[in-house]
Amino acid sequence: MQLERSRCTAPQAECLRGGEVTNILAVLEEKTYLDDWAASVLADPVSKEPRRLEDFSFIDGVLDARVYLRSSAGFKEWADGQAHYEQWESSSAGYRDSIEAYLREIEYDAEVYSHFDLSAPIIDVGGGSGTVREFLAESAEYLSVDPFIEAPHQIPPSKAAAYRCLSRPLNFVAGMAEFLPVRSETFRTVHMRSMLDHVQVRELAVMEAWRVLEPGGSLLVGLSLGGTPYGGSGAREPLTRRLRTWVGAGLRRIITREKDHHVWRPRLQDLVVLLEENGFDVGEPFWQSEWKGRVVYIMGTKRLKIPRSA
Ligand SMILES: C[S@@+](CC[C@H](N)C(=O)[O-])C[C@H]1O[C@@H](n2cnc3c(N)ncnc32)[C@H](O)[C@@H]1O
Repeated sequence: MQLERSRCTAPQAECLRGGEVTNILAVLEEKTYLDDWAASVLADPVSKEPRRLEDFSFIDGVLDARVYLRSSAGFKEWADGQAHYEQWESSSAGYRDSIEAYLREIEYDAEVYSHFDLSAPIIDVGGGSGTVREFLAESAEYLSVDPFIEAPHQIPPSKAAAYRCLSRPLNFVAGMAEFLPVRSETFRTVHMRSMLDHVQVRELAVMEAWRVLEPGGSLLVGLSLGGTPYGGSGAREPLTRRLRTWVGAGLRRIITREKDHHVWRPRLQDLVVLLEENGFDVGEPFWQSEWKGRVVYIMGTKRLKIPRSA
């Protein structure tokens, strides 16, 4: 990978010698970076006017374009959920720091990305450390935007060992789905996996996805659903298995005193309506086999005009 000093923010430049990355792991340990392409798509998250790298502030070398809606409804719930998530993710609580657990996750996800084709340039909203790159061409233009500013650095060792893509430097900006710090009509694909149930204002997040997509571009949403499995249609789990799942989840919560910090548990229909009302034609749902009607992926295609009136 060729980079020039001029393309890096100051702390990252220390990792480069003679315009070439000499130690990619060192780049990761130091900081994330923004390559020429990513720097060229930046915009003010509120005005959406084009901006250059030097117009932003940086925290420990990471561009910080986060915008908080502190006095709006739902902020406290979002902030509590986010604090919980950041701790959960960096401590590997859901995976017990097991390489096998992360490898299984990669195996479960592989079918999704052989079913859907993600064309570059891709913006991964709420993309964290960028693990979806495991399924993309190394050369694909890719940018992760996420408020968890430490996400690319606080990677559990077993996760780093399982995901090959995590050894590559990541285009990363700290930012919010509701206020994307990128120019309009810049991306072929917006990827939103397991994140629409984390944001404070999901309508704004979907409107922003619409704004940054080229005409005809695609939004891929992956989400855990509430309601009955398979969106209430198709194969249903037998009653005994459903009871076992509910009782098991309830008991686990009582024992671990764990709270569900997701701010939204939609049914399939709620998700479809959210996308359609905000300018997308929605394709057929794809159910991830491992989660038996509980985790869906749907692709929306950007329509030319958003219907603005009710
Ligand atoms: C369950 S994780 C999913 C991470 C990643 N998409 C994946 O599938 O591996 C949810 C992500 O949403 C991010 N998030 C929370 N609120 C957000 C917001 N308002 N805008 C963008 N991302 C947000 C979190 O920081 C976290 O990285």
